[in-house]
Order: sequence, then C-alpha cells, then structure tokens
Amino acid sequence: MPQRPLACIILAAGKGTRMKSALPKVLHPLGGQPMVNHVVRAAQSLSPEKIVVVVGPGMDNVATAVAPHPTVVQEQQLGTGDAVKAALGQLAGFNGDVLVLYGDSPLITPATLSAMVAARHGDGDPAVVVLGMRPADPGAYGRLVLGADGGLDRIVEFLDATPDERAVTLCNAGFMAFDGARMGALLSGIGNQNAKGEYYLTDAVVVARAKGWTCAVVEGPTDDTAGVNSRAELAGIEKIFQGRLRLAAMANGATLLDPDSVYFAADTVLGRDVTVGQHVVFGPGVTVEDGVEIKPFSHLEGVIVRKSAIIGPYARLRPGTDVGEGAHIGNFVELKNTQFGKGAKANHLTYLGDADIGGGSNIGAGTITCNYDGVLKHRTRIGENVFIGTHSTLVAPVAVGDGAYTAAGTVVTRDVSPDALAISRAPQAEKAGWASRYRAAKLALKAKLTKM
Ligand code: UD1
Ligand code: MG
Repeated sequence: MPQRPLACIILAAGKGTRMKSALPKVLHPLGGQPMVNHVVRAAQSLSPEKIVVVVGPGMDNVATAVAPHPTVVQEQQLGTGDAVKAALGQLAGFNGDVLVLYGDSPLITPATLSAMVAARHGDGDPAVVVLGMRPADPGAYGRLVLGADGGLDRIVEFLDATPDERAVTLCNAGFMAFDGARMGALLSGIGNQNAKGEYYLTDAVVVARAKGWTCAVVEGPTDDTAGVNSRAELAGIEKIFQGRLRLAAMANGATLLDPDSVYFAADTVLGRDVTVGQHVVFGPGVTVEDGVEIKPFSHLEGVIVRKSAIIGPYARLRPGTDVGEGAHIGNFVELKNTQFGKGAKANHLTYLGDADIGGGSNIGAGTITCNYDGVLKHRTRIGENVFIGTHSTLVAPVAVGDGAYTAAGTVVTRDVSPDALAISRAPQAEKAGWASRYRAAKLALKAKLTKM
C-alpha cells in the first residue's frame, strides 16, 4: 500500500438517546473498556499522524477516556457531515488521507480499515471509499446505490429512500476514507435538505460524483461493522466480542474448559498452558502467567497471577493484587491490594486486604485482615514461612515476623516477633457432668409448662 500520511476522525458527539442513559453512548463498556476506546485502538493500528475525536458539549468524560488524543466539541448535533467539518480545524496543514470512524461501531478491525485505505489508492483514484455491509436485517441503515460501472453513485438515508432503494441490501456501515485534498470541497457541498434536516456526511458521495470524481465501496464482514444504538445491540456485540476473545485465548495456548462460560476483558493477558475452568470472569487489568490453573467460579480484576499458581474454585482477586509463583488461593478467599508471596497458601474462607504475605507462608481458614478502621486503610505485613492459625484476626497496622506462628482464634493487635507464637485466647474451663444436669433441668421445666 502506498505510504501516505493518514489522519482519523472519530465521531462521538451523538447523545445516544436510545441507550436511555446518563452516560454518553460511546462510554458504555465492551469487554470492560469504553466502546470509543476500541475504535481508537483500531485507528491506532494504522499508525495515523493524528486521531481527533468529535464530542458533544459537556462530554468531558469522553475527552478523558480518549486522552491524549485531542477532541473537538460539535456545539449542535447537526449531522455527521457537520461533525466532520468541526474536526477539520484540527487538521489544518495536514496533507494525506482522512479516515472517518464512528465511535459507536466498536468491532471494527484493523484489517477492514486497512482495506479501505488501500482502496483509496486503487482504481480510479476514488475521492471517497465507503465501508459497505450486508446485515441480515438492513433495517434503517443508509443504502449504497451503485452505478452501472460498479462504482458508488450515492448513499440514500433510509428515511429519504424510495421503496426501490429500500430494497437494496448493500448498506452503509458509516466508515469512510477520504482524499484529504478533496475533502474540504466535498463537505462544503453538503446541504441539509432531507428528511432529518441534517448535514449528512453520506452526501459527500453525490457531491463527489457531481464533480466527476469516483467513489468506491469496500464490503466488510457484518460482525465488524455492527453499530450500537440500544442496550440490546450492545449485548449482542458483547457476545460477538467475547467469542473473539475466547478464540484468541485458545489460539495463544490457553485451555478453556467451557469457553462460552468464560468472560474476558479486552486487555486480559493469558500465558501458555493456562487452564481456565467453567464460569470464570476476568475484569479489566488481569495478567496470568504460564501454567496457572484457575478453577471454576473465580472472579479476577486488576491482578497479576504468576507462574503455576492455582486459583479457586470460588476465589475473588481484586485490584492491586499480585499472586506469587506457585501460590495457592482456594475457595471463598478474597484478596485486595495484596502481595501474596511465592509458594504461599490461603486455601479456605479468608479475606486479605492491603496485606503483604511472605513466600512460603500458610494462611489458615477463616483468617481476616481488619484493614479498615472506618476512616483509613492500614497494611498487614506477614513475613516468610509464617503460619497463621485458623480463624486468626489481624488488626492492621500490624506485622508478623518471619517464621512466627499465630495460634488458632488469635486476635493479633500487636506486632509478633520472628519465630514467636502469638496466642490470645480466653482460657478453656470444664464443668464435669454439666450437660446431663442442664438437660434434666430443661425437661423438668418443659413438663411443668405443658401441665399448666
Ligand atoms: C449513520 C449513517 C447511515 C449508516 C449508519 C451506520 C449518516 C447520515 N447516516 O446513521 O447511512 O447506515 O450510520 O451505523 O451518516 N454523530 C455526531 N454528530 C452528529 C450526529 C452524529 O458526532 O451531529 C456521531 C454519533 O455519535 C455516531 C455517529 O456519528 O457515533 C453516527 O451517528 P448516528 O446518529 O448513530 O447515525 P445513524 O442514524 O446510525
Ligand atoms: Mg448509529
């Protein structure tokens, strides 16, 4: 493909009324990341000189999500043509191709975008290349009307289309590649005499044809081109996206025991020979190294799990957690912001929050770190090869030295020296024959009460 500079404009100023949400449509997450970030990532894969995102007034949260890429505010939503015009100010002095992407079509792939840019330099030097698709239900998409030579003559919006035009199955996916040098002339030729009274970007095609310039269509896979206008469509797209992530995880050497029940985030990283059991959910920011086993019903988010560790079943790993090589985290164990050492074990019913657990330590069932005093969070520091007895309560800030023990049921409120035993228990008393005396007294009372 000829190497010409490329700039990308991502349209994201629409309110997304049909989402019925306080959140701008393009910030609704797909695989744990805002939709618009997927589009930015696809654009980045082409190494453009610049990416400009068009947002609506007050969409500072969209600007934050796409930073450091610049945004321009389209003051009024006068249509996709107007939105692109608003972005052109950011491209002053730019000389090359301009790709327009829609922030609400997050499944677009680098391959499809590359094909569009390649077609821009293909036969007839088209001024505009439009991404086409043939969805099972063409619904209200714009229709692509081809000329006798197979080139693109015009795009008709559904509301403006005649019955014959509505019968066309080749639809406009929205993405367009422009020759930057001719783009200004095309945009200024677009009017708003149509059903919606909007400046349709799609009219760039008919303007180009009137100037004698050719326009071309690249047909993309339907899955890549699907747009989100409602929550139901977002759910459909999430399904497709999860399918892609599952296949990628397996292609990279992970075993998924029941792929359809495993949910990934867009940024999940799995090493080789990782085994993932049924019903495991990965939130954003998870890295799992080689040889790890994640047993069913575990939930991981913002964590790194190092080589050959075993997680779950029913484990919950929360942000800021680092599970060391070969460590074991068992059922109903929750870790938050915890460094869990190499080969350490916490196999049952435990909460470790804001803790450092040294290598080789064993955390008994029912251990709890009391990390929160109602106002501040505090750390618990446990050394190497420590044995924390069952049902120990560690009131942070507190430290347990290397090799120390805590007795079962101990409430640790002061630091424990290395190699020591900490024990805090009420002494156990025994009352001989107490149980039969107790039962006899109770039965006598019951007999008396029933007689009355
Ligand atoms: C658009 C196309 C239609 C195509 C469909 C594909 C036009 C006129 N129509 O219709 O041919 O089949 O997409 O999904 O382009 N936006 C702005 N500013 C505006 C209006 C829209 O930034 O003033 C943004 C939206 O945030 C969205 C994108 O442009 O990301 C598309 O807008 P939308 O209103 O969804 O267009 P459609 O009616 O779906
Ligand atoms: Mg749309």
